[in-house]
Amino acid sequence: MAIREIRKKGDEILRKICKPVSAVNEKVRELLDDMLDTMYEADGVGLAAPQVGIMRRIVVIDVGEGPVELINPEKIEESGEQLYVEGCLSIPGIYGEVKRPERVVVKALDREGKEIRIEGTGMLAIAMCHEIDHLDGILFEDRVIRYVDVNKDADREEES
Ligand code: NI
Repeated sequence: MAIREIRKKGDEILRKICKPVSAVNEKVRELLDDMLDTMYEADGVGLAAPQVGIMRRIVVIDVGEGPVELINPEKIEESGEQLYVEGCLSIPGIYGEVKRPERVVVKALDREGKEIRIEGTGMLAIAMCHEIDHLDGILFEDRVIRYVDVNKDADREEES
């Protein structure tokens, strides 16, 4: 187990386009383990590899239903829309409303290199979209419709 340093807004790696993983090997599995440890330690619901300084298309998510690991994730379907107050472990203390699809289907590789498809609605759909954005150098603030003062507002917040 290893906790990695979470890069914060202003670090240029957060704006880079990440490269696909060409081989799912022991190094990738170790990174997945570290990313999960780092995400849980920071009380986040998702973490993307560039947030720990690795420019590869890898994300981890746990919206309270157990860990989800996605290597080279691609959205292949999306439908509906939802508004939710998002946060980001790389932008501490800032929250804002973002519009996302209500449902997405994501194709990815698992930690054995096998192709998987994950359908997510609600929070899982939001988290998958937020994390896949990170792989393309997009931060949730780029999509914020309205900033929210969480001390004042009763909205829930999640950081990923
Ligand atoms: Ni984030």
